[in-house]
Amino acid sequence: MSIIVSPSILSADLSDLKTDIRRVEESGADRIHFDVMDGVFVNNISFGIPVLKSVKKITDMFIDVHFMIIDPMKYVDAFVDAGADMITFHVESDVDIKSTIDKIHSRGIKAGLTVKPNTPIEIVYDYLPFVENILVMSVEPGFGGQGFIHETMEKVSVVKKIITEKRYSCLVQVDGGINDVTAKIAIDAGADDLVSGTYLFKSDDMKNAVQAIKLIKEC
Ligand code: DX5
Ligand code: ZN
Repeated sequence: MSIIVSPSILSADLSDLKTDIRRVEESGADRIHFDVMDGVFVNNISFGIPVLKSVKKITDMFIDVHFMIIDPMKYVDAFVDAGADMITFHVESDVDIKSTIDKIHSRGIKAGLTVKPNTPIEIVYDYLPFVENILVMSVEPGFGGQGFIHETMEKVSVVKKIITEKRYSCLVQVDGGINDVTAKIAIDAGADDLVSGTYLFKSDDMKNAVQAIKLIKEC
């Protein structure tokens, strides 16, 4: 399977979002990554339901929503109604994990679980048969533009091995500090899906940058 590239619009020019969404579409990237922060689970507030509705209005791309909020269950319906195609939430949120996965699935979209850099990956093991995405954070959630934490790749290798052995259909996603160099490290560790904000949106030619990441997997 070729690598999935998911540009994070946290790094887009929000005063000209339509232009940046077109750049993403024309780059050959696969999904739009939509970071939702509530100012409580993380020390930042990003954007939410009205912005997602606006994005959905101008693109048919798959929208991968990353919840960095304390109460994911409360907002599943609103984000599905606004156009989310997948919701990935943190195991560190104050939530019943299985019920939240079931709730997301009951709305007909994909569900994912994510862990912060210092959270042991073992916590997701019981849920691997039930989710479509495991996101291993390679930076502390909250802000774009941080440095890639190499040690988190051990968790990618371990969880990918279990998924492969047990033949689960779940993909492994890595988010934070992904550029042309760290993309290779994440792919070598077993990542199927790379989220990238700063690197892709700051590149002069997003298409080149996306295709360079895709070529790593094919080499
Ligand atoms: C961080 C977000 C990331 C972020 C990635 O909390 O979850 O999706 O936008 O941005 P870069 O690629 O700049 O690290
Ligand atoms: Zn994210």
